[in-house]
Amino acid sequence: MPANLVVGAQWGDEGKAKVIDYLSKDTDIIVRYQGGANAGHTVVVGGKKYVFHLVPSGIIYDNTVCVIGNGVVLDPDYFLQECAELEKSGFRVSEKILISDSCHILLPYHRMIDEARELGSSPERKIGTTKKGIGMCYADKMLRMGLRAGDLLDKEGLKKKLEHILDVKNQELVKYYDLEPVRFDEIYPNLLHFAERMGKNIINTIYYLNSELEKGKRILLEGAQGTGLDIDFGTYPYVTSSNPTTGGALAGSGVNFRHLKDVIGITKAYATRVGEGPFPSEILGEAGDVLRKLGGEYGSTTGRPRRCGWFDVEMIKHSITVNGINSLVLTKIDVLSHYESIPVVIGYELKGKRLDHFPSQGLEDVKPVFADFKGWKDDISGICDFAKLPPTCQSYINKLQELVGTKIGIVSTGPDREHTIIMK
Ligand code: GDP
Ligand code: IMO
Ligand code: MG
Repeated sequence: MPANLVVGAQWGDEGKAKVIDYLSKDTDIIVRYQGGANAGHTVVVGGKKYVFHLVPSGIIYDNTVCVIGNGVVLDPDYFLQECAELEKSGFRVSEKILISDSCHILLPYHRMIDEARELGSSPERKIGTTKKGIGMCYADKMLRMGLRAGDLLDKEGLKKKLEHILDVKNQELVKYYDLEPVRFDEIYPNLLHFAERMGKNIINTIYYLNSELEKGKRILLEGAQGTGLDIDFGTYPYVTSSNPTTGGALAGSGVNFRHLKDVIGITKAYATRVGEGPFPSEILGEAGDVLRKLGGEYGSTTGRPRRCGWFDVEMIKHSITVNGINSLVLTKIDVLSHYESIPVVIGYELKGKRLDHFPSQGLEDVKPVFADFKGWKDDISGICDFAKLPPTCQSYINKLQELVGTKIGIVSTGPDREHTIIMK
């Protein structure tokens, strides 16, 4: 059976988790393949809300197995806290979760350095990270200075590796960042505790996933963040430190690319971004506040107000190109019910000339070209049938589909699992 992939087509928070939860009913295994506790994934079932950070959003279903892939950076403290909360809500997390022995372990000094760098940066250098230490952990992975989940299974080996790493890291903390050193005798026992709790769940998920696919199991790869935040394809340097895009899904799970079937891109019917960086369709001032309020656009991880903007065709076309998206999901269409007319960015101009694609540099200098579409006043929340949408809403959806040149397979009209239209 195939593996399907869900990727964010904008700057994160597109509603990926709602879609993953919806698709999980026909899935055996859900795999998070990159990012870490920077993600905030919200699922609403029967009016009850669950927010996930590290645990895959498919955990709610009884019959699914959830995998933390090798591309994830796993913070043991956050992970155990999240598991404890989910278990309190009645979910059998530790029975259903597998952790790749190759995924990197995020340690307190990663968070400390992330915070120090953000606080110490001048406004124009600030990224606006979630301060969860994500970039620092990936940097150590690339420097070959990281600890991996598999290392936690060998007490003596772990001791040696950690001692060596802390020697180097403590010099960096003290000399470069003017911070207190971290203590071996705090971190080591904490890691042993994690290994005691989760050791049985740490396996070689690369071979597990490929062999389950060979046996006919259905896999869903769960992206965190979005294409605009991709370290290679996003608005560098205002990005996260991983590849949320299709290449990252393969490298971060080990799923053989021949198994990959559908790449499902998630986009809001408008756009948001959290943190710094260029955002051509951004709505500034009070008008932006109105959309933020209507859409409840506050970060699920940091609570920060999300910047709001209009749907940006160039951005989505870029995502379709770099991910190979063959089907889109349009979320939060219900939020736009307030508007008489809805602007959409249909292109960019630079120095008076129309650009023919999303630029890899200088996005802050482009001038967005807008087209206006007729809105609808009726409340469409929770509608599950395309034919029941007001004609102008149907035509907004059809027009977006035409402009981006890829079919919209699902439209979401509310946060709940049931608020979903499957397009014919
Ligand atoms: P993710 O990070 O991509 O999983 O998205 P988040 O969970 O961070 O943010 C999406 C927010 O929109 C969450 O609060 C969802 O419950 C909510 N949501 C998802 N789809 C819809 C929808 O179609 N309509 C409305 N009104 N809310 C939605
Ligand atoms: P989900 O999975 C939205 C943003 C941060 C910042 C940049 C770098 O919920 O869509 P980081 O902490 O990753 O080093 O921060 O990336 N960011 C997100 N924005 N949704 C997310 O995840 C994000 N994860 C990181 O705001 O601009
Ligand atoms: Mg989110």
